[in-house]
Amino acid sequence: MTTEYRQFLALSQARYSCRLYSDEPVSDEHLRLIAEAARLAPSACNRQPWHLLIVTDAERRQALTSCYGRDWLQAAPAFIAIIGNHAEAWHREAYDGKDHTDVDAAIITEHICLAAASLGIGSCWICNFDAERFSDLFGLGPDLEPIAIVALGHPAKEGTPEKIRKPLSDIASWQKL
Ligand SMILES: Cc1cc2nc3c(=O)[nH]c(=O)nc-3n(C[C@H](O)[C@H](O)[C@H](O)COP(=O)(O)O)c2cc1C
Repeated sequence: MTTEYRQFLALSQARYSCRLYSDEPVSDEHLRLIAEAARLAPSACNRQPWHLLIVTDAERRQALTSCYGRDWLQAAPAFIAIIGNHAEAWHREAYDGKDHTDVDAAIITEHICLAAASLGIGSCWICNFDAERFSDLFGLGPDLEPIAIVALGHPAKEGTPEKIRKPLSDIASWQKL
C-alpha cells in the first residue's frame, strides 16, 4: 500500500454525485485547475477527440439547464459539457470499426469529477439530457456530440453519502488456472 493509493482511494470515496449546491460560485481558477487535470486524461491512440465547454454565465447556464429539466440543476453555478468529436476519435478499423468517442469522453469526464473532488467542489455527471437541443443551442457542428454534462458547485451539505456498490467478488474474478 502506498500513500498515493490511500490518497486515490480517499478521493474516489470523496467524489459523489452532488445535487445540492450553495450559492458560492466556482472560481475561474478552480475551473482552470479542473480543466488542466482533464487535459491529461488518456485517450485511444492519444487522439484527444474532445472539447470542453465551460459554462458559467447566467444566460448560457439557462440554455444548458433547459436541456435537462431538473430543479436541482438551477442551483449549479458552473457546468462543463464534454463534446466528443467522432471524426477525430479512434475507430477500431482493423476489426469491427468501433467508435471510441464515448470511451474517451467518459475518461475525461471522470478526470473532471475527481479533480473537482480534490478541490472540495461537488460534481454530478449528467447524460440524461436532450442532446439534440443542446447541439442546436450551442451551435455544434457535424461530427460533434455533447456526450456528458458535469454540474459543478460547492456542496450545500457537508459529508459524503454512503457508497452503494456491488461487492468486489461480484464484479471481479481471477482468471487463474
Ligand atoms: C454515464 C453516467 C451518466 C449519468 N447520468 C446522470 C444523469 O443524467 N442525472 C443524474 O442525476 N445523475 C447521473 N449520473 C450519476 C449516477 O446516478 C451516479 O454516479 C451513481 O448513482 C453513483 O452514485 P455516486 O456518483 O454518488 O457515487 C450519471 C453517472 C454516469 C457515470
